[in-house]
Amino acid sequence: MPDFPADFRWGVSTSAYQIEGATTVDGRGPSIWDTFAREPGRIVDGSTGDEACDHHHRYAEDTALLAGLGVSAYRFSISWPRIQPTGAGQALTAGLDFYDRLVDGLLAASVDPVATLFHWDLPQALEDAGGWLNRDTAARFAEYADVTAARLGDRVKLWITLNEPFIHMSLGHGMGVHAPGRVLLFDAFPVAHHQLLGHGLAVAALRARTASPVAIANNYSPVRPAGDSDADRAAAAAYDALHNRLFTDPLLGLGYPDAPGVDPTVVRDGDLDVIAAPIDVLGVNYYNPTGIRAPEEGSPLPFEIVPLDGYPRTAFDWPVAPDGLRELLLQLRDRYGDALPPIQVTESGCAYDDAPDADGRVDDPERIAYLDGHVRAVHEAIGAGVPVTGYFVWSLLDNWEWAEGFTKRFGLVHVDYPTQRRTPKSSYAWFRDLVRR
Ligand code: BGC
Repeated sequence: MPDFPADFRWGVSTSAYQIEGATTVDGRGPSIWDTFAREPGRIVDGSTGDEACDHHHRYAEDTALLAGLGVSAYRFSISWPRIQPTGAGQALTAGLDFYDRLVDGLLAASVDPVATLFHWDLPQALEDAGGWLNRDTAARFAEYADVTAARLGDRVKLWITLNEPFIHMSLGHGMGVHAPGRVLLFDAFPVAHHQLLGHGLAVAALRARTASPVAIANNYSPVRPAGDSDADRAAAAAYDALHNRLFTDPLLGLGYPDAPGVDPTVVRDGDLDVIAAPIDVLGVNYYNPTGIRAPEEGSPLPFEIVPLDGYPRTAFDWPVAPDGLRELLLQLRDRYGDALPPIQVTESGCAYDDAPDADGRVDDPERIAYLDGHVRAVHEAIGAGVPVTGYFVWSLLDNWEWAEGFTKRFGLVHVDYPTQRRTPKSSYAWFRDLVRR
């Protein structure tokens, strides 16, 4: 492995609902995922995040795993309904106490806390009032950012407002396969705009409380047209505008691109200035590229997603394409030039059907190969002049993978859910050695 700068940030990521469990302690309110997971047929194995990895009780053991890994940063998310059970009003002290303990434990282990404020677990009470379709949710989000930063302020070394607003809009509100399960197709645009507005308002709230840097974590996927017909290219451009530019263009001061669904009547005077508030870091989550061809006649979508041939595949059937990460980082640099802040890859990882062998060891050579390829792609992008300053593996632990329940394992650490026993996989040792070097 080639050398990285000495101050390069190596980390791992998780999110609250996927690992914490303890969904009814300390006055926590229900979130949209508690509701959604209980609806029949939503989650492939019928599970919920009620227990997940029981991290709320086992955070000290998990902090020791981070210390053993030697990472310089840990990206976790804060559960909004633990702080404000109905998404508004006074913060719950007991809810904040949990993150306070976690943050202090991380600092004592020399691991920088990196906190995401919203990783999809909206308080159910806000959803009942329209959720992200309701402009008021943006103001509520800024209030939550304020009360949370008032307590955790500068001890959190990087604040991330939203996780993957594109996925929350498209899977949660466009297709309905994630919470809250709305099927609005392109009428989901207000969800994009109100998340971005909430981000901008939260940036201002955070700046008033902390000197730590502020970021957003977007999901990106370089688009590969299936053929070179004009129709395939146009379809690929439409998908690219939706997935890769809808959120980033306005964040970096360019306004909305010409993407399917964009509805200017939702955007009020001044909103675009709020959204374009400067950020210190752009979080990039990358899993795979997307193949696109022109839609069949009569399709409601201006594109069709097609499988990409010629790549190895993960247990999610996603193509393993490290070249896509390099391509995407170069594309961000070429697209945004001087407007592009430093990038940290805030998620990168893969699911495989990992299981302990007869001796209890969990060997995951495919994950090592996956990470090796993606870390090298980052190195190449840095060599080509892209300002990348960090890389976080998704995920520390096997965890509750949304609509896939417990069936997809992304961790460097295996979790046996019935016993909650943690077993570091061979990829954990590989990543530890990489970080050490
Ligand atoms: C999300 C994670 C998720 C991962 C793997 C990302 O889209 O931020 O919560 O577990 O992908 O699907």
